[in-house]
Amino acid sequence: MKELDPAIQSRLIRDLEPAVAIELERHISTTKNWYPHEYVPWSEGRTFAGPLNGDAWEAKDSKLTAVAQDSLILNLMTEDNLPSYHTEIANSMSRDGAWNVWINRWTAEEARHSIVLRDYLMATRGVDPVELEDIRMAHMQVGYQTPFPNDMLHTVAYVTFQELATRISHRNTGRISQDEICEGMLARVALDENLHMLFYRNLLAEALKLEPNHAMRAITDVLINFQMPGAGMPGWGRKSVQIALAGIYDLQLHLEDVVMPVLRAWGVFELTTLSGDGAAARDELSAFLKKSAEEVATFNDKREVHFSRLEARGIEPLRLSR
Ligand SMILES: [Fe+2]
Ligand SMILES: [Fe+2]
Repeated sequence: MKELDPAIQSRLIRDLEPAVAIELERHISTTKNWYPHEYVPWSEGRTFAGPLNGDAWEAKDSKLTAVAQDSLILNLMTEDNLPSYHTEIANSMSRDGAWNVWINRWTAEEARHSIVLRDYLMATRGVDPVELEDIRMAHMQVGYQTPFPNDMLHTVAYVTFQELATRISHRNTGRISQDEICEGMLARVALDENLHMLFYRNLLAEALKLEPNHAMRAITDVLINFQMPGAGMPGWGRKSVQIALAGIYDLQLHLEDVVMPVLRAWGVFELTTLSGDGAAARDELSAFLKKSAEEVATFNDKREVHFSRLEARGIEPLRLSR
């Protein structure tokens, strides 16, 4: 992956500042303030075992299905790792003017997501609190390192897709939780993620006007190497497979509900301003999308086989309809 020339990056960060200020203003006027404590059914809470001599958590305490528990844990761990994301974003963007105001505002909003998720899970005994804390300690100590250090364009492209992916994942986790309170809470969080996506998407649209070839290269690099920020946390492999099988987040959703809508909004395939490496990057992206569509078909076939086997054993698989 080729890093963006530092001179071009500094100029771009400066030239994009007015767009950051406009997007910040739009974000503040669109977003609705909300309070995590209002989304948590506190009266369901009970003291846990430990110094206060409550009751230890038991699997039967949770009303949530196994896959909803897996997904809530992954989503919460992803929100918990905020200090690392803040560092990477702050390093790649700018600590001046509207950039800095945005980064701090975004960080404060993201922290709200881990607050509401954890409070909900603890009050309802939705997941094992000891396992949750052990995973959090392990995950935060590994931290998050972006594959695009100090690279504003790649970072903005990445967070555009990542925010939308997170939105879909939260929303579908709510749908499969079979708990209205959980669904309402996650729908509220998903709204924030959508606004974050819009901020970054609009910013990259400006970058595509100013530096079309470099911006196009960043988009292609990010999509070809895309991984959710929580990838690699303890239990990621098994949990993410269950999440994909249940249709909470799988490759088809990634392509149809995350990648393509953003590429369409940027008009990537209609751009007439690309040349050299930018044009090559767009061709690479087209080839990658074609290959990914084939992988979707393979995964979907495998899922059907897996589910028929479960059904033959009398197990009704839990899955979301599209
Ligand atoms: Fe979030
Ligand atoms: Fe977000």
